[in-house]
Amino acid sequence: MGKALDGVRILDFTHVQSGPTCTQLLAWFGADVIKVERPGEGDVTRTQLRDVPNADSLYFTMLNSNKRSITLDTKNAEGKKVLEDLVKVCDVLVENFAPGALDRMGFTWERLQEINPRIILASVKGFGPGPFEDCKVYENVAQCTGGAASTTGFRDGLPMVTGAQIGDSGTGLHLALGIVTALYQREHTGRGQKVLAAMQDSVLNLCRVKVRDQQRLSRGPLREYSQFGEGVPFGDAVPRAGNDSGGGQPGRILKCKGWEHDPNAYLYFITQAPVWEKICDVIGEPTWKTDPNYATAAARLPHLNEIFTRIEAWTMAHTKFEAMEILNQYDIPCGPILSMKEIIEDDSLYATGTLVEVEHPVRGAYVTVGNPIKLSDNDVPVERSPLLGEHTEEILATVLGFDADRIAEVKHSGAVGLSPVRQAAE
Ligand code: COA
Repeated sequence: MGKALDGVRILDFTHVQSGPTCTQLLAWFGADVIKVERPGEGDVTRTQLRDVPNADSLYFTMLNSNKRSITLDTKNAEGKKVLEDLVKVCDVLVENFAPGALDRMGFTWERLQEINPRIILASVKGFGPGPFEDCKVYENVAQCTGGAASTTGFRDGLPMVTGAQIGDSGTGLHLALGIVTALYQREHTGRGQKVLAAMQDSVLNLCRVKVRDQQRLSRGPLREYSQFGEGVPFGDAVPRAGNDSGGGQPGRILKCKGWEHDPNAYLYFITQAPVWEKICDVIGEPTWKTDPNYATAAARLPHLNEIFTRIEAWTMAHTKFEAMEILNQYDIPCGPILSMKEIIEDDSLYATGTLVEVEHPVRGAYVTVGNPIKLSDNDVPVERSPLLGEHTEEILATVLGFDADRIAEVKHSGAVGLSPVRQAAE
């Protein structure tokens, strides 16, 4: 098997989560990803939420697999020269610095094009051009400004952020798609281009159904929302809808056997219209098949609370896995609420490479999420993340072709870390 992005070299100037998820994916598709990190400290996540003293954190190791690390002070004159040399031999520069940071470093888009007209400059920023373009942004800020928080949670509660990192990892995914598309276009044009994935835009893209509902709201109540059946009037903005499903098939999270002591003994149950009659049989309400109050999807909308209360009486008599097994026999869509413990212990996810255990020289074995996108002609085993600066000399020698004298010169300048002279003085 091959490597889909074999021959593509990425200059990975990313940190924290959004950018690193993007470049990690590219590495899993076979690109050579060179992570540039500040000498001495590196990506800030190396030390964040540490669980093993002096070892790179899981935060870092789980976002930086299959990369090589070079330390480089890009504010040092010699460091800038090395970065220029790297830009010349790379296909893509990926960065997610605060707005303007790359320009302040001296690497404007114009300058990058002068150095390498084929370079693709791919950036994550919090916002696109507009009133907030200069703002720094983290995950939850993006969830709030992209429409996710105002539409997540229960109507009578606070806006909620989700556990899924749709702002960071979600934007990384969007950026990765932009990068491979720009690489494809470059095949025809010979030119690089700028790729921007703004976190607000990426979250909004994932909240598309809520933009749909905002427009539907101007034409009448959202009948599939629970509050319609409860007789609660709608305001002028899409409300939070608890666990109502976002599509046209009503769904809820229902208690299962053991819910009193297990916080995850629940099942998502969807009353999909084509299997309504089977649902009635399973839960023991055969008359609902013909009763005009329940027989059609439209008739059921005002009665959703009553319907789900009845279904829940059935799910509470079964564990979430028993319920799923029974419902699957009738093609009734449902899903158990799986805890992270259940997921990380699921052998089938290891069998597909979605979960992988890797060895790390400092922290020992750890579990990471592997490539979620499976290509039939792409074989890149998941490897551990690099230690800080682990590949500095290797990259200077093999990627840039520096000889021993030039490497010594770079080291002496302090560009890749403390120079021997400065070290001696400290
Ligand atoms: N050598 C020398 N300087 C370096 C360097 C290197 N190898 N790598 C980074 N730096 C410098 C930058 O040039 C910048 O300097 P400047 O402010 O003097 O221009 C400085 O380090 C800090 O970079 P910055 O991006 O501002 O980091 P921060 O920790 O202050 O902010 C974020 C972090 C995430 C808020 C910010 O980077 C951001 O908004 N990024 C875009 C959105 C994003 O990706 N957010 C999600 C992150 S998961």
